[in-house]
Amino acid sequence: MGSLGFVGALAQAQQINVICSVQAEWCNMISTVYAKTTGTKVNMTMKGSGEALAQIIAEKQNPKTDVWFGGTGDPHLQAAEQNLTQEYKSPMMKDLQPWALQQAAQSNYRTVGIYTGPLGFGYNPNLLKKKGAPVPKAWKDLLNPVYKGDIQVANPASSGTAYTMVATLVQLMGEDQAFDFMKKLHQNISQYTRSGTGPIKAVARGETAVSISFVHDGPGEKSKGFPVETITPAEGTGAEIGSVSIIKGARNLNEAQKFVDWALTPSAQEMAAAAKQYQLPSNKNAKVDPNVPDFKKIKFINYNYAKYGNSEERKRLIARWEKEINSIPKQ
Ligand code: G6P
Repeated sequence: MGSLGFVGALAQAQQINVICSVQAEWCNMISTVYAKTTGTKVNMTMKGSGEALAQIIAEKQNPKTDVWFGGTGDPHLQAAEQNLTQEYKSPMMKDLQPWALQQAAQSNYRTVGIYTGPLGFGYNPNLLKKKGAPVPKAWKDLLNPVYKGDIQVANPASSGTAYTMVATLVQLMGEDQAFDFMKKLHQNISQYTRSGTGPIKAVARGETAVSISFVHDGPGEKSKGFPVETITPAEGTGAEIGSVSIIKGARNLNEAQKFVDWALTPSAQEMAAAAKQYQLPSNKNAKVDPNVPDFKKIKFINYNYAKYGNSEERKRLIARWEKEINSIPKQ
Protein backbone atom coordinates (compact mmCIF):
# COMPACT_ATOMS: atom_id res chain seq x y z
CA MET A 1 0.00 0.00 0.00
CA GLY A 2 1.42 3.44 -0.93
CA SER A 3 1.49 6.12 1.73
CA LEU A 4 -1.63 7.76 0.31
CA GLY A 5 -3.50 4.46 0.49
CA PHE A 6 -2.49 4.15 4.12
CA VAL A 7 -3.84 7.62 4.93
CA GLY A 8 -7.05 6.69 3.13
CA ALA A 9 -7.46 3.55 5.23
CA LEU A 10 -6.94 5.53 8.42
CA ALA A 11 -9.47 8.14 7.39
CA GLN A 12 -11.99 5.37 6.87
CA ALA A 13 -11.59 3.97 10.41
CA GLN A 14 -15.11 3.23 11.61
CA GLN A 15 -16.68 5.66 13.97
CA ILE A 16 -20.05 6.61 15.31
CA ASN A 17 -21.43 9.78 16.91
CA VAL A 18 -23.74 9.13 19.83
CA ILE A 19 -25.75 11.38 22.10
CA CYS A 20 -26.15 9.55 25.38
CA SER A 21 -28.98 10.46 27.79
CA VAL A 22 -28.37 8.00 30.64
CA GLN A 23 -25.91 8.62 33.45
CA ALA A 24 -22.22 9.10 32.68
CA GLU A 25 -20.99 5.76 34.12
CA TRP A 26 -23.22 3.79 31.75
CA CYS A 27 -22.44 6.05 28.74
CA ASN A 28 -18.70 5.65 29.36
CA MET A 29 -18.94 1.89 29.77
CA ILE A 30 -20.84 1.60 26.49
CA SER A 31 -18.33 3.63 24.52
CA THR A 32 -15.33 1.78 25.95
CA VAL A 33 -16.73 -1.72 25.55
CA TYR A 34 -18.23 -1.05 22.11
CA ALA A 35 -14.95 0.38 20.81
CA LYS A 36 -12.96 -2.54 22.24
CA THR A 37 -15.22 -5.26 20.90
CA THR A 38 -15.99 -3.83 17.46
CA GLY A 39 -13.07 -1.53 16.68
CA THR A 40 -15.55 1.29 16.04
CA LYS A 41 -14.68 4.53 17.76
CA VAL A 42 -17.58 6.05 19.70
CA ASN A 43 -17.69 9.86 19.88
CA MET A 44 -20.04 10.46 22.76
CA THR A 45 -21.88 13.56 23.98
CA MET A 46 -23.95 13.41 27.16
CA LYS A 47 -27.22 15.35 27.31
CA GLY A 48 -30.52 15.12 29.19
CA SER A 49 -33.51 13.98 27.12
CA GLY A 50 -34.97 17.44 26.43
CA GLU A 51 -31.54 18.91 25.70
CA ALA A 52 -30.70 16.02 23.37
CA LEU A 53 -33.89 16.65 21.40
CA ALA A 54 -33.04 20.38 21.20
CA GLN A 55 -29.60 19.54 19.79
CA ILE A 56 -31.05 17.14 17.20
CA ILE A 57 -33.54 19.82 16.11
CA ALA A 58 -30.71 22.38 15.86
CA GLU A 59 -28.62 19.97 13.70
CA LYS A 60 -31.52 19.08 11.44
CA GLN A 61 -30.05 20.56 8.23
CA ASN A 62 -26.61 19.09 8.89
CA PRO A 63 -26.83 16.17 11.33
CA LYS A 64 -23.67 15.45 13.30
CA THR A 65 -25.23 12.70 15.36
CA ASP A 66 -25.84 9.10 14.25
CA VAL A 67 -27.55 7.58 17.28
CA TRP A 68 -29.44 8.93 20.28
CA PHE A 69 -29.07 6.39 23.08
CA GLY A 70 -31.31 6.44 26.16
CA GLY A 71 -33.37 9.10 27.80
CA THR A 72 -37.12 9.05 28.32
CA GLY A 73 -39.33 7.84 25.47
CA ASP A 74 -41.57 10.89 25.02
CA PRO A 75 -38.97 13.10 23.30
CA HIS A 76 -37.86 10.12 21.16
CA LEU A 77 -41.49 9.89 19.95
CA GLN A 78 -41.49 13.62 19.30
CA ALA A 79 -38.28 13.28 17.25
CA ALA A 80 -39.89 10.48 15.22
CA GLU A 81 -42.99 12.54 14.54
CA GLN A 82 -40.88 15.55 13.50
CA ASN A 83 -39.02 13.39 11.00
CA LEU A 84 -35.71 13.83 12.83
CA THR A 85 -35.10 10.10 13.15
CA GLN A 86 -35.38 7.20 10.71
CA GLU A 87 -36.99 3.79 10.54
CA TYR A 88 -34.95 0.74 11.50
CA LYS A 89 -36.28 -2.71 12.30
CA SER A 90 -33.50 -4.44 14.18
CA PRO A 91 -33.38 -8.25 13.96
CA MET A 92 -33.10 -8.10 17.78
CA MET A 93 -36.71 -6.93 18.04
CA LYS A 94 -37.90 -10.54 18.27
CA ASP A 95 -36.42 -10.73 21.78
CA LEU A 96 -37.97 -7.55 23.18
CA GLN A 97 -40.69 -6.98 25.75
CA PRO A 98 -44.13 -5.83 24.45
CA TRP A 99 -43.73 -2.31 25.90
CA ALA A 100 -40.50 -1.82 23.94
CA LEU A 101 -42.19 -2.98 20.74
CA GLN A 102 -45.19 -0.77 21.40
CA GLN A 103 -42.81 2.20 21.54
CA ALA A 104 -41.38 1.10 18.17
CA ALA A 105 -44.78 0.62 16.55
CA GLN A 106 -46.03 4.00 17.81
CA SER A 107 -43.08 5.74 16.11
CA ASN A 108 -43.36 3.81 12.84
CA TYR A 109 -40.17 2.01 13.89
CA ARG A 110 -38.12 5.19 14.29
CA THR A 111 -37.34 4.39 17.90
CA VAL A 112 -37.45 1.34 20.16
CA GLY A 113 -37.48 0.75 23.92
CA ILE A 114 -34.28 -0.26 25.67
CA TYR A 115 -35.46 -0.01 29.28
CA THR A 116 -38.32 1.07 31.51
CA GLY A 117 -38.58 2.41 35.05
CA PRO A 118 -41.10 3.99 37.43
CA LEU A 119 -41.25 7.59 38.63
CA GLY A 120 -41.38 8.14 42.38
CA PHE A 121 -39.72 9.98 45.24
CA GLY A 122 -36.22 9.85 46.69
CA TYR A 123 -35.76 10.83 50.31
CA ASN A 124 -32.99 11.18 52.85
CA PRO A 125 -34.19 9.40 56.02
CA ASN A 126 -31.61 11.19 58.22
CA LEU A 127 -32.65 14.64 57.04
CA LEU A 128 -36.36 13.84 57.40
CA LYS A 129 -35.78 12.64 60.95
CA LYS A 130 -33.84 15.79 61.81
CA LYS A 131 -36.68 17.93 60.51
CA GLY A 132 -39.30 15.77 62.21
CA ALA A 133 -40.90 15.30 58.80
CA PRO A 134 -42.68 12.11 57.69
CA VAL A 135 -41.73 10.05 54.62
CA PRO A 136 -43.95 11.34 51.77
CA LYS A 137 -46.11 8.45 50.60
CA ALA A 138 -48.38 10.16 48.10
CA TRP A 139 -48.26 13.06 45.62
CA LYS A 140 -50.56 15.05 47.93
CA ASP A 141 -48.12 14.61 50.82
CA LEU A 142 -45.55 16.72 48.93
CA LEU A 143 -47.71 19.81 49.55
CA ASN A 144 -47.16 19.57 53.32
CA PRO A 145 -45.44 22.83 54.40
CA VAL A 146 -43.00 20.76 56.45
CA TYR A 147 -41.10 20.21 53.15
CA LYS A 148 -40.86 23.91 52.27
CA GLY A 149 -37.62 24.55 50.37
CA ASP A 150 -36.67 20.91 50.72
CA ILE A 151 -37.99 19.24 47.55
CA GLN A 152 -36.12 19.16 44.24
CA VAL A 153 -37.24 18.12 40.78
CA ALA A 154 -35.73 18.87 37.37
CA ASN A 155 -36.97 21.33 34.75
CA PRO A 156 -39.25 19.54 32.23
CA ALA A 157 -37.78 21.49 29.30
CA SER A 158 -34.33 19.98 29.77
CA SER A 159 -35.20 16.77 31.63
CA GLY A 160 -37.28 13.82 30.51
CA THR A 161 -37.66 12.76 34.15
CA ALA A 162 -39.42 16.03 34.97
CA TYR A 163 -41.57 15.89 31.83
CA THR A 164 -42.64 12.38 32.89
CA MET A 165 -43.77 13.95 36.18
CA VAL A 166 -45.80 16.67 34.42
CA ALA A 167 -47.44 14.13 32.08
CA THR A 168 -48.09 11.71 34.96
CA LEU A 169 -49.79 14.38 37.09
CA VAL A 170 -51.92 15.55 34.16
CA GLN A 171 -53.09 11.98 33.53
CA LEU A 172 -53.67 11.30 37.20
CA MET A 173 -55.49 14.50 38.18
CA GLY A 174 -56.72 16.18 34.99
CA GLU A 175 -54.75 19.03 33.44
CA ASP A 176 -56.03 22.07 35.36
CA GLN A 177 -55.93 20.23 38.68
CA ALA A 178 -52.38 19.04 37.92
CA PHE A 179 -51.23 22.62 37.25
CA ASP A 180 -52.96 23.73 40.41
CA PHE A 181 -51.09 21.00 42.27
CA MET A 182 -47.74 22.00 40.71
CA LYS A 183 -48.40 25.66 41.66
CA LYS A 184 -48.76 24.64 45.29
CA LEU A 185 -45.82 22.26 45.03
CA HIS A 186 -43.70 25.15 43.68
CA GLN A 187 -43.78 26.69 47.16
CA ASN A 188 -41.94 23.64 48.53
CA ILE A 189 -39.38 23.34 45.70
CA SER A 190 -35.87 24.64 46.36
CA GLN A 191 -34.74 24.41 42.74
CA TYR A 192 -35.54 22.96 39.32
CA THR A 193 -32.33 21.30 38.15
CA ARG A 194 -31.24 20.82 34.54
CA SER A 195 -30.62 17.11 34.79
CA GLY A 196 -33.19 14.53 35.91
CA THR A 197 -30.74 12.85 38.28
CA GLY A 198 -29.57 16.07 39.97
CA PRO A 199 -32.34 15.98 42.61
CA ILE A 200 -31.70 12.42 43.88
CA LYS A 201 -27.97 13.14 44.03
CA ALA A 202 -28.78 16.20 46.15
CA VAL A 203 -30.94 14.02 48.42
CA ALA A 204 -28.16 11.45 48.74
CA ARG A 205 -25.65 14.16 49.68
CA GLY A 206 -27.95 15.71 52.26
CA GLU A 207 -28.59 18.94 50.33
CA THR A 208 -32.35 18.43 50.15
CA ALA A 209 -34.71 16.02 51.92
CA VAL A 210 -36.95 14.87 49.04
CA SER A 211 -36.71 14.51 45.25
CA ILE A 212 -39.07 13.53 42.46
CA SER A 213 -37.01 10.98 40.55
CA PHE A 214 -36.97 7.66 38.79
CA VAL A 215 -36.80 5.10 41.58
CA HIS A 216 -34.20 3.05 39.67
CA ASP A 217 -31.76 5.94 40.27
CA GLY A 218 -31.87 5.35 44.05
CA PRO A 219 -29.92 2.11 44.62
CA GLY A 220 -26.85 3.38 42.74
CA GLU A 221 -26.55 6.37 45.12
CA LYS A 222 -27.19 4.14 48.11
CA SER A 223 -24.44 1.74 47.04
CA LYS A 224 -21.98 4.65 47.26
CA GLY A 225 -22.81 4.77 50.98
CA PHE A 226 -25.30 7.66 50.91
CA PRO A 227 -28.49 7.62 53.00
CA VAL A 228 -31.18 7.56 50.32
CA GLU A 229 -34.41 5.57 49.96
CA THR A 230 -37.15 5.58 47.34
CA ILE A 231 -40.91 5.14 47.34
CA THR A 232 -43.66 5.29 44.73
CA PRO A 233 -46.75 7.44 45.35
CA ALA A 234 -49.94 5.81 46.61
CA GLU A 235 -52.24 7.47 44.04
CA GLY A 236 -50.31 5.87 41.17
CA THR A 237 -47.36 6.83 39.00
CA GLY A 238 -45.99 6.84 35.46
CA ALA A 239 -43.05 5.03 33.89
CA GLU A 240 -40.62 5.97 31.15
CA ILE A 241 -39.76 3.83 28.15
CA GLY A 242 -36.09 4.69 27.69
CA SER A 243 -35.38 4.49 23.96
CA VAL A 244 -32.77 4.47 21.21
CA SER A 245 -33.17 6.17 17.81
CA ILE A 246 -31.15 6.57 14.61
CA ILE A 247 -30.91 10.15 13.38
CA LYS A 248 -32.27 11.01 9.94
CA GLY A 249 -29.34 11.77 7.64
CA ALA A 250 -26.87 9.89 9.89
CA ARG A 251 -23.49 9.91 8.16
CA ASN A 252 -22.57 6.51 9.56
CA LEU A 253 -25.85 4.72 8.92
CA ASN A 254 -24.47 1.22 8.69
CA GLU A 255 -22.55 1.71 11.93
CA ALA A 256 -25.62 3.23 13.57
CA GLN A 257 -27.71 0.16 12.74
CA LYS A 258 -25.03 -2.16 14.11
CA PHE A 259 -24.88 -0.08 17.29
CA VAL A 260 -28.65 -0.32 17.77
CA ASP A 261 -28.56 -4.12 17.23
CA TRP A 262 -25.88 -4.28 19.92
CA ALA A 263 -27.77 -1.97 22.31
CA LEU A 264 -30.68 -4.42 22.20
CA THR A 265 -28.58 -7.47 23.18
CA PRO A 266 -28.71 -8.90 26.72
CA SER A 267 -25.01 -8.26 27.33
CA ALA A 268 -25.24 -4.57 26.35
CA GLN A 269 -28.38 -4.11 28.45
CA GLU A 270 -26.80 -5.80 31.48
CA MET A 271 -24.21 -3.01 31.47
CA ALA A 272 -26.83 -0.73 33.03
CA ALA A 273 -26.71 -2.67 36.31
CA ALA A 274 -22.92 -3.00 36.00
CA ALA A 275 -22.88 0.83 35.93
CA LYS A 276 -25.29 0.86 38.93
CA GLN A 277 -28.34 1.99 36.94
CA TYR A 278 -31.30 -0.22 37.61
CA GLN A 279 -33.91 0.16 34.88
CA LEU A 280 -35.76 -2.94 33.68
CA PRO A 281 -34.08 -4.09 30.41
CA SER A 282 -36.18 -4.51 27.25
CA ASN A 283 -34.50 -7.72 26.07
CA LYS A 284 -36.39 -10.65 27.61
CA ASN A 285 -33.16 -12.61 27.94
CA ALA A 286 -31.26 -9.92 29.85
CA LYS A 287 -30.68 -10.69 33.53
CA VAL A 288 -32.79 -8.58 35.88
CA ASP A 289 -30.67 -7.28 38.76
CA PRO A 290 -32.25 -7.60 42.25
CA ASN A 291 -32.00 -3.79 42.58
CA VAL A 292 -34.45 -3.27 39.69
CA PRO A 293 -37.76 -2.02 41.18
CA ASP A 294 -40.45 -4.68 41.55
CA PHE A 295 -43.13 -3.51 39.11
CA LYS A 296 -45.75 -5.82 40.64
CA LYS A 297 -45.65 -3.83 43.87
CA ILE A 298 -46.19 -0.44 42.19
CA LYS A 299 -49.48 1.21 41.32
CA PHE A 300 -49.15 2.49 37.75
CA ILE A 301 -51.35 4.78 35.73
CA ASN A 302 -52.06 3.68 32.17
CA TYR A 303 -49.54 6.19 30.72
CA ASN A 304 -50.58 7.32 27.26
CA TYR A 305 -47.20 7.38 25.49
CA ALA A 306 -48.61 8.34 22.08
CA LYS A 307 -50.44 11.38 23.49
CA TYR A 308 -47.66 12.69 25.75
CA GLY A 309 -44.94 11.98 23.19
CA ASN A 310 -46.86 14.02 20.61
CA SER A 311 -44.81 17.09 19.72
CA GLU A 312 -47.61 19.67 20.06
CA GLU A 313 -48.74 18.24 23.37
CA ARG A 314 -45.22 18.08 24.82
CA LYS A 315 -44.40 21.63 23.67
CA ARG A 316 -47.71 22.95 24.98
CA LEU A 317 -47.35 21.36 28.42
CA ILE A 318 -43.76 22.56 28.82
CA ALA A 319 -44.72 26.10 27.75
CA ARG A 320 -47.63 26.06 30.21
CA TRP A 321 -45.27 24.87 32.96
CA GLU A 322 -42.79 27.70 32.18
CA LYS A 323 -45.54 30.30 32.20
CA GLU A 324 -47.69 29.16 35.09
CA ILE A 325 -45.22 27.42 37.40
CA ASN A 326 -41.57 28.30 36.85
CA SER A 327 -42.20 32.03 36.65
CA ILE A 328 -44.27 32.42 39.82
CA PRO A 329 -42.46 33.94 42.78
CA LYS A 330 -42.11 31.87 45.91
CA GLN A 331 -43.79 33.18 49.04
C1 G6P B 1 -31.46 8.95 34.32
C2 G6P B 1 -32.27 7.69 34.42
C3 G6P B 1 -32.77 7.29 33.06
C4 G6P B 1 -33.51 8.43 32.40
C5 G6P B 1 -32.64 9.67 32.37
C6 G6P B 1 -33.38 10.88 31.87
O1 G6P B 1 -30.27 8.72 33.65
O2 G6P B 1 -31.50 6.66 35.00
O3 G6P B 1 -33.59 6.17 33.22
O4 G6P B 1 -33.93 8.06 31.12
O5 G6P B 1 -32.20 9.96 33.68
O6 G6P B 1 -32.56 12.00 32.06
P1 G6P B 1 -33.15 13.48 32.05
O7 G6P B 1 -32.00 14.35 32.48
O8 G6P B 1 -33.61 13.73 30.67
O9 G6P B 1 -34.27 13.54 33.02
